[in-house]
Amino acid sequence: MYSKMITPFLAILGLLTNFPTSSFAAPSPVLGIMSHPFNSTHEFIAASYVRWLQMGGARAVRIPFTANSTELDLYVKEMNGVLFMGGGQHLPDSAQYLFEEIVGSYDLEKASTLTPLWGICLGFQWLLQMASEDIHLLSTGFDSENISLPLTFTEAGETSRMYTQNGAIDMVSLLKANNVTMNNHGAGVKPTNFASHETLDDFNLLSTNKDRNGLEFVSSFEHKNFPIYGTQYHPEKSNFEYGSHSPKVDDTPYEAIAHSIEAVRYSFELATLLVAEAAKTGVRFDPASSGLRTIIEKNDGVLLRSEFEESYLFKI
Ligand SMILES: *[C@@H]1O[C@H](CO)[C@@H](O)[C@H](O)[C@H]1NC(C)=O
Ligand SMILES: *[C@@H]1O[C@H](CO)[C@@H](O)[C@H](O)[C@H]1NC(C)=O
Ligand SMILES: *[C@@H]1O[C@H](CO)[C@@H](O)[C@H](O)[C@H]1NC(C)=O
Ligand SMILES: *[C@@H]1O[C@H](CO)[C@@H](O)[C@H](O)[C@H]1NC(C)=O
Repeated sequence: MYSKMITPFLAILGLLTNFPTSSFAAPSPVLGIMSHPFNSTHEFIAASYVRWLQMGGARAVRIPFTANSTELDLYVKEMNGVLFMGGGQHLPDSAQYLFEEIVGSYDLEKASTLTPLWGICLGFQWLLQMASEDIHLLSTGFDSENISLPLTFTEAGETSRMYTQNGAIDMVSLLKANNVTMNNHGAGVKPTNFASHETLDDFNLLSTNKDRNGLEFVSSFEHKNFPIYGTQYHPEKSNFEYGSHSPKVDDTPYEAIAHSIEAVRYSFELATLLVAEAAKTGVRFDPASSGLRTIIEKNDGVLLRSEFEESYLFKI
C-alpha cells in the first residue's frame, strides 16, 4: 500500500530517475589537496585540511607535489575543486599547470565547469602569484606568526560571496568583532602591491590586517566572477588544530588558535561555501572506475604531532 502510493509521488518529483541507484549515498564532491615534500621519501598533508573539507561535506584526494601533466589531467577530470594548503614550499609546476587548466576551462555560461580553487596561507600566496603572473608579488618580513586577528573589511569584502553567500550568520560582524582568524606567516601581499597589479583587476581584495609592527597585509580575496578564493589566515585550524607538536606531547596548546563558538562557526561557513561551489560541478569521481582514492583510504601512514595534530604521509 505504502509503496504503491509513494512510487508515483517520487516519480513525479523526478527523484527515482535522478537519484543514483547503485548507491544510497548522495553524491558528495571530491576535492584535491596538493601534498608537500616532507623528507626525501615522503610527502604530507596536514589532516586538518582533510577534515575541514569533510566538515563542509566533501571528500579529499591527494595531488602529488610532483605530479606530471598526464596525472594532473586525470585529477582535473575527476575532482570538483582544489585546495592549496599552507606550508613553506616554492610554487611548483604542478600547481601552475592545475591553475592554468582550471582557469582556462572557466566559462560563465556553463556553471558546471567552474571548478573552485581555494588557497590557505601559502596556498593563498600561490594563487595570487599565479593570478598576478608575478612570482615576486610577495613581500617578506611580516611579524604575523601565531596571531589571531579580527578582519578589517574593504567595501567589496562586506558584500563578497566569501563573507555573505552562505547567509546563515552575519560573518562580517562576527569577523570584525572576534580575534578568530589565525595567521602564521612571515611572507605576504601588501595591499599596495595587490592594487598596482593590473593582472589582479578581476579580483576583489576583501580584507586586510596589520602585523605586530603595523605593516599591512591582504588577508582575503576572491575573483569577481569565478570561484577563486584565498585566505592568508587558517580557517581549518580553529576546529582541528591546537598547535600540539612532538617535543611537547602533554596536550598543552602552544599556538594562539581560537576555538570559541565564533571561531568554529566562521570556519564551518567557509568550508561549506567551498564545498557548495564544488557541488555545482556535478559528479566527476566514480570510485568503481577511477584509479584515484581518497586520502582516508590511500595514505602511507599518519604522523602524530609533528607541527600539526596529525598529518597523512605519502610515499613518493
Ligand atoms: C621520512 O619520514 C617518514 C615518516 O617519519 C619516515 O618513515 C621515513 O623513513 C623518512 N625518510 C627518510 C629518508 O628519513
Ligand atoms: C607521468 O607520471 C606517471 C606516474 O608516475 C608515469 O607513469 C608517466 O609515464 C608520466 N608521464 C610523463 C609524460 O612523464
Ligand atoms: C584583538 O585584535 C586586536 C587588533 O589586533 C587587538 O587590538 C586586541 O587587543 C585583540 N584582542 C584580544 C582579546 O586578543
Ligand atoms: C603563540 O601565542 C600564544 C599566545 O599569544 C603564546 O602563549 C604561545 O607561546 C605562542 N606560541 C608560539 C609557538 O609562539
